[in-house]
Amino acid sequence: MTQYVINGGNKLHGEIEISGAKNAAVAIIPAALMVNGVCRIENLPQISDVSTLLNILKEMGAVIRVVDKRTIDIDCSHVGTSSATFDTMRRIRASYYLIGALLGRFGKADVAMPGGCNFGGVRPIDQHMKGFVAMGAEMTVQNGIVSATTGGRLRGASIYLDVVSVGATINLMLGAALADGNTFIENAAREPHIVDLANFLNSMGADIRGAGTNVIKVRGARRLNGGFYSIIPDQIEAGTYMAAVAGAGGEVLIKDVIPKHLECISGKLREMGVSVFEHEDSVTVRRVAPLLGAHVKTMPYPGFPTDMQPQISTILSTATGTSTVTEGVWDNRFSYTDELAKMGGSIRVIGRTAIIEGVPYITGAPIKAGDLRAGAALVIAGLCARGVTVLEGVNYIERGYEKMIKKLSAIGADIHSRYVSDEPQIVVQEAG
Ligand code: EPU
Repeated sequence: MTQYVINGGNKLHGEIEISGAKNAAVAIIPAALMVNGVCRIENLPQISDVSTLLNILKEMGAVIRVVDKRTIDIDCSHVGTSSATFDTMRRIRASYYLIGALLGRFGKADVAMPGGCNFGGVRPIDQHMKGFVAMGAEMTVQNGIVSATTGGRLRGASIYLDVVSVGATINLMLGAALADGNTFIENAAREPHIVDLANFLNSMGADIRGAGTNVIKVRGARRLNGGFYSIIPDQIEAGTYMAAVAGAGGEVLIKDVIPKHLECISGKLREMGVSVFEHEDSVTVRRVAPLLGAHVKTMPYPGFPTDMQPQISTILSTATGTSTVTEGVWDNRFSYTDELAKMGGSIRVIGRTAIIEGVPYITGAPIKAGDLRAGAALVIAGLCARGVTVLEGVNYIERGYEKMIKKLSAIGADIHSRYVSDEPQIVVQEAG
């Protein structure tokens, strides 16, 4: 088992480079299945969710060539199956994008129900299924496998999403890209990675308009051809390091970002007394005065992102006064607050709202991450705390953050990882 050991209290100074967006990469890699020809994908983040998806594609017969550490060529021309190994699929949430990609390419798909982060609530896919049924697919779920079939190809349809769902918007866009006729996705999600996927598919020959608004129109293409594409920077990775600087104090230039994607986070940090300066493709975050309490509500983009909720609650733990953080996307995403309580944080959760009474400081403790963003938040807690924090469950962090320890160490954090055996220790006493 790997643990992160954090000696808190250092201020952060220097520069940090942001990697390609995880949630764009995990949509674009399955989309490569729909392409006849070689897709060159640049700015891929080096994270375990990406490796898992590439392994799934390889199992399906894709030829993958590593060009350099951030660039790969994927050739799915000879993929001839609609299914992949269920065990690998279950490891990752984004495996549900294989449903849209395979239905688009082959008119049928068998995909294991997605795994991935479970922050306590149910993660349904009824809106994905409803959309594919409207497009003519027959869908069944048995023994944890989603099976979808069509007579040949999906048919374009008008689909109104009952909830604003990133996953359903992406999945239906994938299927619609190779459907017969036009598809309209209404009440669509507008996250930056939805626009990124649409740009990727359009550069391969799809016809998708309106991505980034709440109505997306897809004119089905007969085939998609290979090409080049570079993934956008990760909004949430950037936001996580912005929160880290806000919490620990100091001044850091966060490079290779799209400042517009960060406005929802920058605005909230400014309310908390943090200076955020936007440049062309970077932002400077500076915090010298004590943090001020604030009220936050998570919402679909362009609202404050749910994937930044644990990180903002963590830094509000040592802000002045009483803050509230309301989760507007997921039913339950507050399990990490029990770990913050072990560090001296004062957080009460009532329904979907956390009420945070700011304390002067928190202290290091042995704690455990239960999901990706909770893990990132607990690293921030360790950086802000007095004393040593030992964090378990870091495999979640490595699913979505590239080289977090290296990046934080470079800006002055005292953090390292260590391996501890899970085996029970047997003490052998020497005779005599
Ligand atoms: N929902 C339904 N039915 C559906 C789909 C969603 O009721 O068929 C509900 C969900 O229960 C939730 C809301 O709609 O209450 C939003 O869910 P959404 O479908 O947007 O979430 P997702 O696609 O499963 C993606 C990200 C999550 C991020 C959410 C919201 C990926 C791989 N995952 O999940 O990211 O929290 O959008 O922005 O893109 C993360 O990166 O740590 C992460 C969990």
